[in-house]
Amino acid sequence: MKEKIDRLLNEINSFEIASAEQLEDFRLKYLSKKGAVSNLFTDFKTVAPEQKKEFGQLINRVKQAAQGKYNTVKESIAISSLSFNDAEDYTKTSEPLNTGSRHPISTVRQEIVDIFSRLGFTVAEGPEIEDDWHVFSGLNFPEEHPARDMQDTFFIEKDPDVLLRTHTSSVQVRVMENNQPPIRQIFPGRVFRNEAISARSHCIFHQIEGLYIDTEVSFADLKQTLLLFAKEFFGSDTKIRLRPSFFPFTEPSAEMDVSCSICGGKGCAVCKYTGFLEILGCGMVDPNVLEASQINSEKYTGFAFGMGIERIAMLKYQIKDIRYFFENDIRFLKQFSTF
Ligand code: DAH
Repeated sequence: MKEKIDRLLNEINSFEIASAEQLEDFRLKYLSKKGAVSNLFTDFKTVAPEQKKEFGQLINRVKQAAQGKYNTVKESIAISSLSFNDAEDYTKTSEPLNTGSRHPISTVRQEIVDIFSRLGFTVAEGPEIEDDWHVFSGLNFPEEHPARDMQDTFFIEKDPDVLLRTHTSSVQVRVMENNQPPIRQIFPGRVFRNEAISARSHCIFHQIEGLYIDTEVSFADLKQTLLLFAKEFFGSDTKIRLRPSFFPFTEPSAEMDVSCSICGGKGCAVCKYTGFLEILGCGMVDPNVLEASQINSEKYTGFAFGMGIERIAMLKYQIKDIRYFFENDIRFLKQFSTF
């Protein structure tokens, strides 16, 4: 019997428990009603009375060893399952902060500003609520020009001289009336037009206007400046194309196309198989515009250009609907996150 007890004690001490299942096996084998320890107590009944004391102590030691081991392992399994599964893991970093991201319009605006900054253009801004002079008359718009029409322009009912600017060209006038050349600036900002909202047009959008006035500024300067911008923004292989156009404030005027960056000019659905995409209006500042702001048109010449930021962002990111920019749908905005 003594041998049996020793063997059992050894067995209990060397029993490996590495999981909750093994712990349960251990319990069943040694501590349950029909387990080994319980059997020892049954055997104990047959022990001679004079040996009862000695064996009683031995059997109790076995029971304590088994119960002690069981309790210790159970506790450590409970602790480890706590820290790795459902409770705090203090080694984990804290909840990630939901940082926002730049709106694609801000990103594109900044990229354009950066390119022109490198060419020596500084940034100026003007008011969104304007008057007729800065938006139209100062820019050589004839009295009956259709752009003044209620259909295009948001006027304030009480005072027809107060309106929301329909283009950032208005900032040209503000800058010219307060500064003498040389002027080399760009004017980013929000503009408003009384237009039906659709996939291609919105009543609020953004433009960047550029103005360069100095002695001997030529159309060649305009072309080179815009070519450099196009290559910087759309890629060094980009070609530009200037088509004659008309704007009241420039003469001559042109619209500029860039070679389609999607198909490389071969023709695709985005460029409607023309190989080119229209991106801006430009021209030489009309002498009437210079004179209206007290700039000597005999001495100075200049060029100007204006582009829509949404349009350029749509081309850059292949966005099919202008309305996405204004809905602030997180699923849309997240795609431009740089974090
Ligand atoms: N203001 C024009 C528009 O909103 C864009 C534009 C065209 C600006 C030609 C210019 C320019 O400065 O020279 O459509």
